Amino acid sequence: MLWFLAGLAMSAGVLGCRLPGRPAAGDTPQRPDQVSDFLTLYNGNCAACHGINGQHGTAVSLGNPAYLAYAGIDNIAKVTAAGIPGSLMPAFAQSSGGLLTAAQVQILARGMVTQWGNAQMASSGVPPYQSQSEGDAQRGEQAYAKACLRCHAGGAGSLLDPSYLDLITDGGLRTIIVAGKPEEGMPNWTGYGGPPIEDGEIADLVAFIASHRTPGAAQTTQYKPDSAASQTAEPATGPKDTSR
Ligand code: HEC
Ligand code: HEC
Repeated sequence: MLWFLAGLAMSAGVLGCRLPGRPAAGDTPQRPDQVSDFLTLYNGNCAACHGINGQHGTAVSLGNPAYLAYAGIDNIAKVTAAGIPGSLMPAFAQSSGGLLTAAQVQILARGMVTQWGNAQMASSGVPPYQSQSEGDAQRGEQAYAKACLRCHAGGAGSLLDPSYLDLITDGGLRTIIVAGKPEEGMPNWTGYGGPPIEDGEIADLVAFIASHRTPGAAQTTQYKPDSAASQTAEPATGPKDTSR
């Protein structure tokens, strides 16, 4: 709650009420670890990959209400802090070698859910974030033909392309199948033309799609938030995150 009040106080400051302790224009700029405004943190650290307002990015659409209902504050904070090994998602928490404080990670996770989320969606039977079942690739192939093929035809550049799959984890596939990318026309778990798809079917789809992965097909490069411009990235060697 305090962070929220602090946010209100800061916007009041922007509107001109001079608050005690708030630096006047011309004072030394805020230290990076003191930044507590959600959008400043988001735009400075996340928008490059996840898009302005969490849309149209190359990675998961974090501004998608279905995604926010699916993942929730705690999972978002955990991933933001620790990153996703074997993918381009960096670890941001100082405790994991990043530049953000634990408080800043919380501001980001809460800001997304409260500013971009939709409370109604959060209570409407979203599949679990952690799959409860083992996927079966053969069943997944049938589900793929039924639910996906009409939009994702085969061939180079398809979802089954090993160099695409080398850049996304199983958890990342699950996320996109559940949450979609509404701003691009990719449906969410309710929108594949039949009844909403369920946990087991999602696991089958992920198993089928992931069975086309060839490790090393693309050179995964690890992004370093503090030195991206000045360093040549090295290929990441960590194992794929299959925990989700
Ligand atoms: C109504 C058409 C439609 C259907 C049905 C559909 N998709 Fe998509 N999908 C899209 C569009 C459009 C995009 C975004 C364009 C793109 O990234 O290529 C997309 C993107 C994706 C992505 C992200 C690709 C990327 O470039 O990051 C994945 C993964 C995906 N779809 C999986 C699936 C799976 C699995 C199914 C079946 C359960 C499915 N889609 C069904 C239209 C569809
Ligand atoms: C260099 C690109 C990059 C930057 C910068 C980046 N991300 Fe990501 N992020 C990714 C990719 C790629 C994935 C998907 C990884 C996968 O699972 O394959 C991802 C995944 C995530 C996920 C998990 C999605 C899921 O499946 O639940 C969250 C949450 C997330 N990012 C939050 C953030 C936040 C918050 C920031 C800024 C503090 C940020 N990211 C900055 C690339 C990036």
